[in-house]
Amino acid sequence: MTLPPFASSPEGPDALRPLLDTVLDALRDGGRARGGPLPAGGPEAVAARIAEAVGDVLPDEGDPDALHTLVRALAEGSADPADPLCAAHLHCPPLAVATAADLAVSALNPSLDSWDQAPAASALEAVVTRALARQLGLADALVTTGGTESNQLALLLARETQGGGVRLVCGANAHHSLTRAAWLLGLPEPVVVPAPGGILDPAALDDALTGLPRPLLVAATAGTTDAGLIDPLPEIAALCSAHGARLHIDAAYGGPLVFSDRHREQLAGLEAAHTVTLDLHKLGWQPVAAGLLAVARPRDLAVLQHRADYLNADDDTEAGLPDLLGRSLRTTRRPDVLKTAVTLKTLGRRGLGTMVDQVCARAREFAALVQDHPGFELYDRPVISTVLFRPAGADDDTVAAVRRGLLEEGRAVLGRARLGGRLWLKTTLLNPHARPDELAHLLKLVEGSTPG
Ligand SMILES: Cc1ncc(COP(=O)(O)O)c(C=O)c1O
Repeated sequence: MTLPPFASSPEGPDALRPLLDTVLDALRDGGRARGGPLPAGGPEAVAARIAEAVGDVLPDEGDPDALHTLVRALAEGSADPADPLCAAHLHCPPLAVATAADLAVSALNPSLDSWDQAPAASALEAVVTRALARQLGLADALVTTGGTESNQLALLLARETQGGGVRLVCGANAHHSLTRAAWLLGLPEPVVVPAPGGILDPAALDDALTGLPRPLLVAATAGTTDAGLIDPLPEIAALCSAHGARLHIDAAYGGPLVFSDRHREQLAGLEAAHTVTLDLHKLGWQPVAAGLLAVARPRDLAVLQHRADYLNADDDTEAGLPDLLGRSLRTTRRPDVLKTAVTLKTLGRRGLGTMVDQVCARAREFAALVQDHPGFELYDRPVISTVLFRPAGADDDTVAAVRRGLLEEGRAVLGRARLGGRLWLKTTLLNPHARPDELAHLLKLVEGSTPG
C-alpha cells in the first residue's frame, strides 16, 4: 500500500486540493439532506444515522470513501448556526474567510508551546493579542479555548496575585464557569449576589462587599448568557475601587460591541477591569475555539511562567528564543489566532462593527414582532441580540414542551432561560443575514406548536 500524503509539505496543497473538493461536496450534500436548521427525529434517529455511516470504526482494510461518508453524515446531522431558525445559543455561524484561514492552521500544524514549532504563529499571536487587548482598554491578552478557560485563568490570576483566600463575589446572573472555577482552584465558597432583574444590583453588591473579609474578586458580566444583559459596569468598577476588590468582567458575549460605533458606549467601565474575558466564537463569527483573556497588568501573567527544559531552556531564552509556556496552561496549542487575525484584517473595524449593529437591529425587530403579537409575551427590549419571549398564558411545562417539540421535528432551535421565576424561550440572534420574514416565520412555528 502507498503511504498517504501529508498536508504540510510543499506538496501538501496538491494532496489537499482534491480532498477539499470531496469535503465541500459532502458538506453541501449533507446540508441538503438535512434540509433545515437541525436533523429531524431527535437523538435516536441521529445516532442511528451516524452508526450506519461509521459502520466499523476501525476496519482491517481502510475505506477511501470515509472522508465523504463521514463529513456528509456530520453535515446532515448538524445544527446549522447560519439558519435563521437556529437561534438558541451563543453558537455563531462561522465566517467563510475565518474557516478558510483555520484550514491553513490544520495544514501547517504549528504548536505554540515552543518557538521552534511555531515561529511565525508565535509572532502573529503576540501582535494580535496585544492589539485586541488595547481595543478593550487593557494591555495584553492570552488566547484560550473560550469563555470557560478565560474565566478559570482570571480566577487563577486573582488567586496568585491576591492570595489563596480570595473570595469570588458574582451575581446570580454570572456564567456557571466562574463558580466552577472557584471550586476547581480551591477558593472559598463564592458569594452569589441576587440579580433579580437579570443584572447585578450595585446596592446589593455594596452590601456584600461591606460585610466580607478581603481579599475579594468581583466578577461582572457584559452580555449575560440568559438574557444578553450588561451589568452596570461603571458603578461596579467604582465599588471595587472603594472596597479594594479586584474586578473581572466576563465579556464573552458582549465584548465585540467595542467594534461598533453605535454600541461601544454600552461597555464603558470595561477598561477598569483587571481581567476581561472575550469570546470571538460568539459575537465574533469565528469557528470554535476563539477565546481571549485580556489583562490590565501584564506583570500579573508572571505567575504562569514555567520551565520545561525541552521547550524553553534558560540558555535558549537568554539567547533570544521567545518563551511561550507562560502564555497558556496548555502545552501543545493550535494557533487559533490566525483566523481571528485574518477576520480583523479582512473586515476591518467597520465590517465587524456593521455585523454587530446588524444582529442587534435584528434582535430589536424580532422583539417588536413579539410585542405586536397578541399571542406572545416579550420579556424585555433586547440589550445585545438576545430576545426572551413566551406564548401568552402558557405554563412553564408548555413552554418547555414547545421548545422540545420543535427540536424533535428539526424545525427550529430555540433556547430556554428562567428569569423572574418563569421559563422563557430564548433566541440569540447571531446571523446578520436573517431577514424579517424569516424571523416572522420563526414566530409562526412557535405559534403553530403551542397547544390551544
Ligand atoms: C457570559 C459567558 N461567559 C462564559 C461562557 C463560556 O464560554 P465557552 O462556552 O466558550 O467556554 C459563556 C457561554 O455561553 C457565556 O455566555
